Amino acid sequence: MSEHGSPDDIARQWREAAGREDLVLLDGFHALKHALRFGADIQAVVADDPASVRALAAELAPDVEGDVGRLVRKAELRTLLTRVHPTGVAALAVRPDPAEGRARLERMPRTAPIVVLDNPRNLGNVGAVVRLAAGFGATGVVTRGDLDPWHPNVVRAGAGLHYATTVEHITLETLPAGPLYALDPEGDDIRALTLPDDALLAFGSERHGISPELRARADHLVSLPMRPQVSSYNLATSVAMTLFHWGGPKAC
Ligand SMILES: C[S@@+](CC[C@H](N)C(=O)[O-])C[C@H]1O[C@@H](n2cnc3c(N)ncnc32)[C@H](O)[C@@H]1O
Repeated sequence: MSEHGSPDDIARQWREAAGREDLVLLDGFHALKHALRFGADIQAVVADDPASVRALAAELAPDVEGDVGRLVRKAELRTLLTRVHPTGVAALAVRPDPAEGRARLERMPRTAPIVVLDNPRNLGNVGAVVRLAAGFGATGVVTRGDLDPWHPNVVRAGAGLHYATTVEHITLETLPAGPLYALDPEGDDIRALTLPDDALLAFGSERHGISPELRARADHLVSLPMRPQVSSYNLATSVAMTLFHWGGPKAC
């Protein structure tokens, strides 16, 4: 997208770019901020009021203020988007190459676990897990099943942090190497275990739990402490507790 042009030109260029399958929508300032911090290739940034977005960057994220100022262009968001984020800014960023993502996931030695989501159903949950993985410095998040982990609603719930970790779709055949720890209320108490850095931490779907085929591949079945009458925790909450038990980013 050109750095110059009238709001109409910018809007036309946005519409053309928005049709590209290799671009994802970053909805709102925080998603843009995270994507910039973690090296996303940003193709377009539009706002009703570019000056207020620059002011927001100056106040909340001076580290990306210069980039925001350089990139943001004026366009009427309500003509370009079905829903306008309260921060009044949207961006389009390049979705990373899946082959490069898979290569990163296979790289050894692995210094932090990979989170495996076995046929997740809730897009908000998957975004929350991406956000957790980014915060804990996990190697990545992989999903099995028919949901695209780069679905716009997952990216929205992930607050732009897809760019801070590796997020890919996999099958049972392309599951990365490493000891597989499947989280299930019937497993062994996690408090008695040390989770290794090269672990695959697998979580079941919201409705059905861990699938029989992944359970059959598991090296360990692990449970999170829970009172007897409670059936299960929320998926993203379970990932949070498990990553916390693993230990978190080494540098913090
Ligand atoms: C909402 S739960 C799934 C509930 C599902 N009805 C079932 O039968 O397991 C989603 C996932 O979170 C993880 N999970 C939830 N509570 C857990 C617990 N107490 N111990 C270990 N994992 C748990 C599991 O991986 C589970 O498959």
